[in-house]
Amino acid sequence: MNVKDKTILITGGAGGLGSVMAEKLGKNGAKVFILDLMEDKGREVTQALKDKGIEAWFCKVDVTSEEDWKSAIDYAVEQTGRVDVLVNNAGINIRKPVEEMSIDEWVTMMKVNTGSTFLGTKYAIPVMRRQGGGAIINTSSVCGLIGHKFTPEAYTASKGAVTMLTKAIASRYAKDGIRCNSIHPSTVDTPFVRKNLEDPVFRSQRLGEVPLGRLATSEDVANAVLYLASEEASFINGVALPVDGGVTCY
Ligand SMILES: NC(=O)c1ccc[n+]([C@@H]2O[C@H](COP(=O)([O-])OP(=O)(O)OC[C@H]3O[C@@H](n4cnc5c(N)ncnc54)[C@H](O)[C@@H]3O)[C@@H](O)[C@H]2O)c1
Repeated sequence: MNVKDKTILITGGAGGLGSVMAEKLGKNGAKVFILDLMEDKGREVTQALKDKGIEAWFCKVDVTSEEDWKSAIDYAVEQTGRVDVLVNNAGINIRKPVEEMSIDEWVTMMKVNTGSTFLGTKYAIPVMRRQGGGAIINTSSVCGLIGHKFTPEAYTASKGAVTMLTKAIASRYAKDGIRCNSIHPSTVDTPFVRKNLEDPVFRSQRLGEVPLGRLATSEDVANAVLYLASEEASFINGVALPVDGGVTCY
């Protein structure tokens, strides 16, 4: 897959999925920017990428801050002259069912999972348009496609909004050469769910729903991102791509 010399920004790049995406894209020749709130971890991940010969930068970014987005996009343009791909991947999950969740918690989920995707897209588009195109990849979830009964409703709603934001952006900005697609992983063993996966009931629920009979890996998800970022996907636009072993088939 050809992503050589593309400038790629990954939010949540210090996390379980984001760091593996960064390495996969970097090993395929991309220049990667790790955008994350966790500074120590972000710098550690960035240094590990550099040690592997990957061109990498870290930006401390709160993805809910408009100012942080402006600075991160400016920084990437300053360093490499471009923003070819934006991966809106940072996310959180406050694990409470709707009847136990406060409105403040709901708003936080929406801000981090959906508002961040809106803001990143808002500030990447003018740069992409100026340079003649680009690609945006949004990490949604299987919960952005189905009403997943084991998952908090606020998370499902936030990821469902990401699914439709993706399609709306794909149809409006295709004329500027900008593609926008979403990926929809099922459960992956990352810090996001690691604690929950220690609970045998949670683990067997998550395993039991996968027709292919195993959890997703970060590599599975990174492979999908590599494809959507690549030249080979140049006619793929507005797709909601499950990376779920078949969870959303039934
Ligand atoms: N792990 C799974 O099972 C799974 C399944 C489907 C979808 N997802 C989605 O994949 C994405 C990545 O999840 P992960 O498993 O790597 O989780 P993770 O917890 O390992 O990583 C998430 C990263 O996002 C960062 N982040 C959180 N809030 C932020 C903010 N306000 N500003 C900047 N960075 C912030 C965190 O610091 C962390 O590095 C999330 O959007 C999640 O919803 C995960």
